[in-house]
Amino acid sequence: MIENNNVHKILYGGDYNPEQWPEESWEEDMRLMKLAHIDVVTLNVFSWAALQPSEDTYCFDKLDRIMETVTKHGMKVCLATSTSAHPAWMARRYPDILRTEFNGMKRKFGSRHNSCPNSPTYRKYAQALAGKLAERYQSYDNIVAWHISNEYGGECYCENCERAFRKWLQNKYKTIDAVNEAWDTAFWGHTFYDFEDIVLPNMLSEHFDVNRTTFQGISLDYRRFNSESILDCFRLEYDTVHAITPNIPITTNLMGNYQPLDYQMWAKYMDFISWDNYPAYNATLEDTAFKHDLMRGLKQGKPFALMEQTPSVTNWHPYNALKRPGVMRLWSYQAVAHGSDTIMFFQIKRSIGACEKYHGAIIDHAGHENTRVFREISQLGAELDKIGSLTLGARTDSKAAIVFDWDNWWATDYSAGPSVNLHYCDEILNYYKAFNNLNIPVDLVSVEDDLSDYRIVIAPVLYMVKPGYDEKLRHFVKDGGTFVTTFFSGYVDDHDLVTIGGYPGKLRDILGIWVEEEDALPEDAHNSFTYKGTTYPASLLCDLLYTEGAEALASYETDFYAGMPALTRNTYGKGTTYYVATRSNADFYRTLIDEICTTADIQPIIDTPDCIEVTRRSNNNGTFLFFLNHDTEEHAITLNCSGRDILTDTEYQNGGTLILTAKDVAILQLN
Ligand code: GLA
Ligand code: ZN
Repeated sequence: MIENNNVHKILYGGDYNPEQWPEESWEEDMRLMKLAHIDVVTLNVFSWAALQPSEDTYCFDKLDRIMETVTKHGMKVCLATSTSAHPAWMARRYPDILRTEFNGMKRKFGSRHNSCPNSPTYRKYAQALAGKLAERYQSYDNIVAWHISNEYGGECYCENCERAFRKWLQNKYKTIDAVNEAWDTAFWGHTFYDFEDIVLPNMLSEHFDVNRTTFQGISLDYRRFNSESILDCFRLEYDTVHAITPNIPITTNLMGNYQPLDYQMWAKYMDFISWDNYPAYNATLEDTAFKHDLMRGLKQGKPFALMEQTPSVTNWHPYNALKRPGVMRLWSYQAVAHGSDTIMFFQIKRSIGACEKYHGAIIDHAGHENTRVFREISQLGAELDKIGSLTLGARTDSKAAIVFDWDNWWATDYSAGPSVNLHYCDEILNYYKAFNNLNIPVDLVSVEDDLSDYRIVIAPVLYMVKPGYDEKLRHFVKDGGTFVTTFFSGYVDDHDLVTIGGYPGKLRDILGIWVEEEDALPEDAHNSFTYKGTTYPASLLCDLLYTEGAEALASYETDFYAGMPALTRNTYGKGTTYYVATRSNADFYRTLIDEICTTADIQPIIDTPDCIEVTRRSNNNGTFLFFLNHDTEEHAITLNCSGRDILTDTEYQNGGTLILTAKDVAILQLN
C-alpha cells in the first residue's frame, strides 16, 4: 500500500463485506462508492468459513466475483486473509484450536479472534489459506496490500500454550537454574526442578487478578511469550504470501497502545504499520495524537496507514456518541497530520445482523446517499482527490523523543506497588501532552531506536532499564543531549529483579542523585513544590532523594520530607539530565518542556491555543503544516510563515491571519 507504485493519492475507503449481501446489490454499492470518491476496499476479512467449508474443500467462487466486480470498477484492494475467525467445522474436529482463558475456562466455538496461537491446526490451516489466496489472486495488480488476519490480540492458557511456553523458556534460559535465578524462585519456595514443573501464570496459578501476580518474572515472560506466539502466526502467513507476491506490501491492523502485543517487536516483521482508531467518547485530542505518534514511531517515522475508523459512530463503547458534523473530517486529517498516508473506515456498508449492525458505515441501513454521513464522506473524498500525491511519504522531523517500551509497561503494571494509580501510559501522556500543546513535534521511540538525531530524550517511569540501555543514555548525554526521567525509574533489570545499591540503579550516576524511599500518596492527597515562582502539586509518588552532584531546582514543601528535592538537574559530559521526583500537573509539564526545548534550541512550529493542533510533515514536494481546530469555536491564528492552503488554494502571507472555523482544517504548503 505505502510505497506501492500503484498508489498516487491518500487511499480512501475501508472494510467492505459484500458476502453479507445479495449479489444484485453489489453494483449499487459500487455506484455509491464512486460517488463518495472511494478508491480502496478491504476485502475478505471474515470469510474463512466460506472459503474453506470443510477440511479438504476450498471454494473461491464468490471471492472471485467480488474481486472481478471491484476491479472492474477501478477499486484498489487491501486483501485480507480471513484467518481471525476459524470455521465451525475446525473447532468441532480439532478442539486444540480453541482458546483457554485467563481464568482457565476452555472456550467453545464462538466469537472471533478466537484461535489458540500455538494450535498446530490453526497454524497449518491459516498458512494454507493465506497461500491459496496469494496463488489465486497474485495476478491482480490492484492489490495494494495484504491485510493478514485482523486485529491480532488476546492470549491463551491452554495445554498447547503451556508446552510451548516451556520450550520458549528452554530456548531463552537453557537451564532450569537460570530460570530459577531470573524469577528469583527462592522466594516462597518456588524452585523449579524441571521445565515440566512450570505452568502458565494465570488465575489457576500465580495471579490474584489480571494485574497482580506473585511472580512478576513469570508473568512478564508469559507476556513476551504470548506476544511472540501470536507474532509467529503472523509471520507464518507473511512468509507464505511474501514468497508468492514479493511486491505486495504486507501489514496487519494494530490497535494503538494495545498492551498485550509488543508492537515494537511486531513492527520489525511488518512492511508498513496500519492501525485502527476508535477514540472513546471522552478521549482528548492528545490521547489520539499520542496513539498516532506511537504508531508512526514503530517504523522510525515511516508513514503508516489508518486502516479503520468509524465514519460516524461505534457500537461497542459505553456511550456511542455520533461524530459531530466536521469531526470525521477533522480526525481523518489528524491521522494524516501525524503520519498517515491513508484514510480508511470500518465499514463501507452497515450489516443487518449480529453485534455490529448499529456500527456506523458509509452506506447506512437507509441504503442511499442522502444522509449526513454520506455527504461528509463524499466531501472529504473530493478533497483527497484534489490533494492527490502531494503529502504522500512525508516525514515528521522531530528533535525530541519520548521513550515507550512494552516490557516496561508490563513490568510497571505488574510491579506490586507502589500505587494502584500508577499507570505507565498516563505518565507518558503527561509529557506527550506538553509537546502536543506547545506544537513541538515529538517521536515515540523504543529502547532499541537510535537516539543520535535527538536533542531531548524523555523516559517517564523508566522502571525497567534493559541491559545496555544505561550505556546508550550515557553516550547520548555525554554527547550533549538532554535526558529527563522521573520517579519509579531505574529500579529493575529485564527480569524485574531489583538493581541493588540504591535507586535509580544504573541511572544514578547520569542523574547525580540517590533515591532512598518513595512515598505513595492516596488519590486526593498532595504535597507541593515551587518552581520559578509558581507552586505546583506533587502527587501519586514522591521520591525522597539526595543529590550526588545534581542541583535541586525545587523541593517538597510539607510532610516530614519537606526540603528534600522534588526536581533536580545534573550536568553530565556535555549534556544535562533532569529528574522529576513526583507527578505534577499539566502547567508544570508544559513549563518544564518549554524550558528544556528552548535551552536545546527546539522551537514550537507556531504558538496556538491548546485546542488548535499544529503538526509538520515534509517530503520532496515541500513542507506541509497541518492546522486542526478541535474546538467548537472559530479561532484566528497569526501566521509566522507564508504558504498556500492546499484544500482551498488560499495564499497566506507571513504575519497574515488564518481563520479556522469550528472543527476546520487547513494544510499550508510552505513557500
Ligand atoms: C475492529 C475490527 C472490525 C470491527 C470494528 C468495529 O476495529 O477490526 O472488524 O469490528 O472494530 O469498531
Ligand atoms: Zn493455547
